[in-house]
Amino acid sequence: MVLRKNVKNNVSWVGKVDWELKKFHGEEYTTNHGSSYNAYLIKEEKTILIDTVWMPYAEEFVENLAKEIELTKIDFIVANHGEIDHAGALPALMKHIPDTPIYCTANAVKSLRGQYHQNWNFKVVKTGDKIDIGNGKELIFVEMSMLHWPDSMATYMTKDNILFSNDAFGQHYATESLFNDLVDECDLFKEAIKYYANILTPFSQILTKKLEEIISFGLPIDIIATSHGVIWRDNPMQIVEKYAKWAKNYQENQITIIYDTMSNGTKRLAEKIAEGMSLSDPHVMVKVFNLAKSDQNDLITEVFKSKMLVMGSPTVSNSILHSLAGFIHLMKQLKFKNKRAAVFGCYGWSGESTKVLNELLTDAGFEVLHEGLKNQWIPDNDQQLSAIEYGKKIADLLQESK
Ligand code: FEO
Repeated sequence: MVLRKNVKNNVSWVGKVDWELKKFHGEEYTTNHGSSYNAYLIKEEKTILIDTVWMPYAEEFVENLAKEIELTKIDFIVANHGEIDHAGALPALMKHIPDTPIYCTANAVKSLRGQYHQNWNFKVVKTGDKIDIGNGKELIFVEMSMLHWPDSMATYMTKDNILFSNDAFGQHYATESLFNDLVDECDLFKEAIKYYANILTPFSQILTKKLEEIISFGLPIDIIATSHGVIWRDNPMQIVEKYAKWAKNYQENQITIIYDTMSNGTKRLAEKIAEGMSLSDPHVMVKVFNLAKSDQNDLITEVFKSKMLVMGSPTVSNSILHSLAGFIHLMKQLKFKNKRAAVFGCYGWSGESTKVLNELLTDAGFEVLHEGLKNQWIPDNDQQLSAIEYGKKIADLLQESK
């Protein structure tokens, strides 16, 4: 039985499609379209395995790989990244071929030793190092430090012009189709931008420099073979161009309102503020989300696309609802740049929520444009009109702040 899927010439995909994956990185990242762990087998004069799969699929991976190739025929392995979704099958595989060299970065040796506690036959490589794999072809290594781990690396295959990019340019997207031209483009780019927003945003500056470095090598790229989701073969540079845009404080003409609510008073304010913003600027896209009822990683993508974030919480125990505090912490980790913010919230007695939101958002790197709209009790008609006016006001402040 032939299980492998051809990528190009003597390069095959030998990974795992994970249709049922719904959460990744523990419970941190929602993968509503599943994912894949892409590993590749190169059969030139040398036989090379590039990466493996997520640890729970280790035995299945080794079993399938053994149907493709006698394992002892693998000359060496390239471990582009030590995280368990790519190196997780190494312990199972190396039981069969314990002395096989593993090419990786110096940091990957630390990562692989730290995670798997094995002293495998590591061969440390750095940017520009090359290996002859026969038939006139070479593998060239490119360190991709902080994209997204210190140990990350990409591997370029000459003549076939394939960049094995590992996590970079990937998406958590399960598909049997393998290539970008064979899948639903809307789903694909939705997952690609979500992946960037949630994983790569903090490293945008590094990414910009790395893209320039890769382009400066002048290596032709016909295929970008990622470690998650599709392989980019139809205009592969389109995802590189997207990354270059996303890395430069990307924004669309969008304002996102995110709130949590206890008695629906803050919810009503959110809706009225959205109304006011649209009245002030009919061209801006205003989106409103109840944080407690939304996918937080999708909301991160919405914030990523927004020029302004408006957050609302009722006052509870002299502070805000903890859902919002956790979400602001996540945004702080992602180091969003060049984003404006404003706040609002209902209260019954003491009314600290807007002040707390302002402080947390400022600490998370947002420029807060107004002290916020405080509304005592559930908004009546006049108070709802005030919320509409507040929406108009902060939309105006946003335009003035450009
Ligand atoms: Fe950093 Fe897909 O692992």
